[in-house]
Amino acid sequence: MSGNSEPRKYKNPVLNWIEFRLPIISYFQKEYGEYPMPKNCNYFWSFGALATITLITMIVSGIFLAMNYTPHTEMAFDSVERIMRDVNYGWLLRYIHSNGASFFFIIVFIHIVRAMYYGSYKYPRELNWILGVFIFLLMMATSFLGYTLPWGQMSYWGATVITNLFSAIPIVGEGLKTWLLGDYTVGNATLNRFFALHYVLPFVIFGVVGLHVAAVHVHGSNNPAGIDIRSKNDTVNFFPYMLIKDTIAVCVFGVLISAVIFFGPNLMAEVDNYIPADPLVTPAHIVPNWYLAPFYAILRAVPDKLGGVLLMFGAIAILFVLPWLDTSKVRSCNFRPMYKWFMMLFFVNFFVLGYVGMLPAEGLYLLIARIGLVYYFGFFLIITPFIGWIEKPKTLPLSISDVYLGGGKESPSPVSQKEIH
Ligand code: HEM
Repeated sequence: MSGNSEPRKYKNPVLNWIEFRLPIISYFQKEYGEYPMPKNCNYFWSFGALATITLITMIVSGIFLAMNYTPHTEMAFDSVERIMRDVNYGWLLRYIHSNGASFFFIIVFIHIVRAMYYGSYKYPRELNWILGVFIFLLMMATSFLGYTLPWGQMSYWGATVITNLFSAIPIVGEGLKTWLLGDYTVGNATLNRFFALHYVLPFVIFGVVGLHVAAVHVHGSNNPAGIDIRSKNDTVNFFPYMLIKDTIAVCVFGVLISAVIFFGPNLMAEVDNYIPADPLVTPAHIVPNWYLAPFYAILRAVPDKLGGVLLMFGAIAILFVLPWLDTSKVRSCNFRPMYKWFMMLFFVNFFVLGYVGMLPAEGLYLLIARIGLVYYFGFFLIITPFIGWIEKPKTLPLSISDVYLGGGKESPSPVSQKEIH
């Protein structure tokens, strides 16, 4: 904000006093009051707000849990049991936090699906997308660390399997693993550092989300038609229109998550984690959290350990370059008759990978995981660039108001994104 610009004037003298010294009130007014939302945005555009609310809920419930949790291998499991039985509303806090993590991933998966389907990752929102992928990585790291803390069987063995992956890296692997664990095996030093990192990472995520949202506001939100805003007619103010829509979404979400917390709090939990960690008894199947399962399936689908590790991390890394792999100028899949179906198949494939990732890696499941792995990478490296070249997109509407008010009045010839810019 330039020091020369005139500060806004308010009736309330306290607001004026603050605004003159720190123009934070006008900032919020501009970014969350007058911010122009494309008026064709559907409920998919509420998932960013839902993710923000869930992140805050996770941080607050986590802080209260930490007040009663003990990060020591001899006491961690019992301290969690104490939270469940003796701490006032401890059971509620724990169920909010553990189910909140699952819901957080459901919300963010839908948020990503929205961004992919409507091409929100394309020019000029590439950095916004990259920050999103970075948040996704941080979320996965945080949930993995959190899963270790109750020190149940899955906590212990999950941590053992995942940290073992680092030993596949040639030359430095073993040393790196020991450095991460703080010991030669998963133990007290590991639990302590995992707790410290699990506490701090959500605040890092919060900071990156700030940048992510600021980046959205630079060029404005994308919309289901994937075309740019042309005039004020194409938009509505964030307040009250989008805020009301987001509030309805938050209420529906509140009902859904409450139903799970109160009537099926262990639906998404792993029963083996109610058995205290025992380094001498390996569970029959070591299962990750369901939301990490698609990547776990990729890891196990490759017969070579190093190859599996590289492809698992590659599956996330490839998301960073998606804006440059997609050669089509048209953003929204609504106007991409071929790519739309490959995109849908990609989502189904990801779901199937998650399903087989929770099952033993043998026989038919292994075969399905391998097919899924090939489609996953084939989609990004072959289908996405190739379809962009050969596909003839449908005619794009001239403006958002055209779609919205004129019942889909179309331009005589396709308008490319290039022309729009
Ligand atoms: C903690 C997790 C996250 C939070 C709190 C968050 C928050 C938000 C918010 C508030 C918006 C603006 C409102 C909206 O369009 O929904 C947004 C937009 C966006 N986010 Fe996220 N996000 C998160 C994770 C991600 C991830 C993991 C990705 C992708 C990998 C992503 C990609 C995008 C994109 C591309 C947009 C622009 C959408 C558009 O304008 O159409 N976000 N995000």
